[in-house]
Amino acid sequence: MDKPKNAVKLKLKANKKYSVCTCGKSDTLPYCDNSHRILNKENGTNYKSFKVFPEEDTTIWVSSSTWENTGK
Ligand code: FES
Repeated sequence: MDKPKNAVKLKLKANKKYSVCTCGKSDTLPYCDNSHRILNKENGTNYKSFKVFPEEDTTIWVSSSTWENTGK
C-alpha cells in the first residue's frame, strides 16, 4: 500500500474519542485544536474534524491533502 507523504501513524486506545483535523490549520496536527472555527468564520468554509472511536487498541494511518506540515 502506497501512503501519501504526509500520512501519519496513530496509535489509538480503545474507547477513547479522537478528533482528527481536516482543515490543515491545527497546531496539533493530525489532531484538531479547533482552529477550523476561525478559518471557517474568516473564509466562509465549513471544515469540521472527523471523529474516531476505536473499539479496541489499534494503529491506523491517516492523511489529508490539507496537511502541509504534520511534523512527521
Ligand atoms: S483544527 Fe482543523 S478541523 Fe479542527
